[in-house]
Amino acid sequence: MSTKKTKVEAAAEDAVAEGAAAVEAAVKDVEAAAQDVEVAAKEVAAEAAETADAAIKETTEGAVAAKVAVEGAAAPKKKKKGKKLLVVLGVLALAFIAAGAGFWIWHEQPSFCSAICHTPMDPYGRTYEFSSGAPGEDKWGNEVPDAGAMMVVTHKEAGEDCMACHVPSLGEQITEGLTWITGNYEYPLNERNLKNLVEARGIPADEFCLNDRCHHVTADGAALQTRDDLFAMTDEYTRNPHKPQHGENECGLCHKAHRASVNYCSQCHGDAPIPDGWLTHMQAQKLDRP
Ligand code: HEC
Ligand code: HEC
Ligand code: HEC
Repeated sequence: MSTKKTKVEAAAEDAVAEGAAAVEAAVKDVEAAAQDVEVAAKEVAAEAAETADAAIKETTEGAVAAKVAVEGAAAPKKKKKGKKLLVVLGVLALAFIAAGAGFWIWHEQPSFCSAICHTPMDPYGRTYEFSSGAPGEDKWGNEVPDAGAMMVVTHKEAGEDCMACHVPSLGEQITEGLTWITGNYEYPLNERNLKNLVEARGIPADEFCLNDRCHHVTADGAALQTRDDLFAMTDEYTRNPHKPQHGENECGLCHKAHRASVNYCSQCHGDAPIPDGWLTHMQAQKLDRP
């Protein structure tokens, strides 16, 4: 009886492993194909640019040069076959992009995440609906007296959507989709840190927040690009939270997106600043976590 069960289990395990390997291979194929299309499109673009450059030059060189231009136009005939293939690939790439664009625009809307994956995305979509200065609720259902203490709210108010922070990579999206379809995830979701969130993109955790696209700007208009800039920004506090006194902390240790932010320093320093709606370390420990 028990041996029979193990056999069935072993068979099931094999099947799962085989499935996972197939999925991984498929993801690689899709990524490779996407890369090919991109390379082809770039080649077409480069060639078009070259042709345009040449045309401009030729025009300015006047009537005599026109003759040369005709000859020049005739000469590349030998290369025509390769060119044709590139054009076909370029058109295919454009069609592919156009077909994808409609889906992509929808995909960029915060509603997409919940429309497809009610569970587990709804609580995250809900945090996006609140406003700074008014009460809200975190992803676990805890009350947040000032929803502006959740980064998802302040960033929404700055015109950003889910994908602005959760920059999607193709492989990651496919994995997420498959995970959702197979139901092979824990709900409520485990909380991620910034290192988890940038893993698929292969960038340092800091770049989730500090990157060229996200120009955090202070009230006086200065751009915040580095940890030094942050340190200077909050220098007014006696217990500057951005001071790397005991080593550098990940931004997400204090700045929370889908629940109230926490000043971690307050675990030991009673004078650590707790902005409106933020929590002390102790309060955060007492949150209801389903
Ligand atoms: C300001 C940037 C930002 C925006 C905008 C944002 N998120 Fe997040 N998200 C984060 C961060 C940071 C985390 C890590 C956990 C945390 O801080 O709450 C996270 C975590 C998550 C997780 C992982 C589970 C967890 O609790 O850690 C999911 C799912 C998620 N976000 C969904 C969404 C959805 C859906 C939207 C849009 C409605 C969205 N996020 C908008 C920054 C953002
Ligand atoms: C130890 C906790 C902690 C860490 C770690 C931390 N911060 Fe902060 N941060 C704070 C506190 C507290 C404030 C003050 C908020 C206020 O006064 O409104 C703040 C303010 C900010 C502000 C200004 C927000 C505003 O609207 O005024 C930005 C931007 C910011 N932090 C970015 C970052 C980034 C990026 C990182 C990571 C490189 C980081 N922080 C790491 C605690 C922290
Ligand atoms: C686990 C407890 C703990 C945490 C959390 C903690 N500190 Fe400290 N901190 C200490 C202790 C103990 C000292 C005094 C001994 C020393 O200098 O190491 C100290 C000293 C300091 C000092 C030197 C001046 C002084 O008050 O003695 C600064 C500045 C400081 N901490 C800032 C911070 C900041 C900013 C954070 C959050 C990013 C933080 N600390 C988090 C325990 C902590």
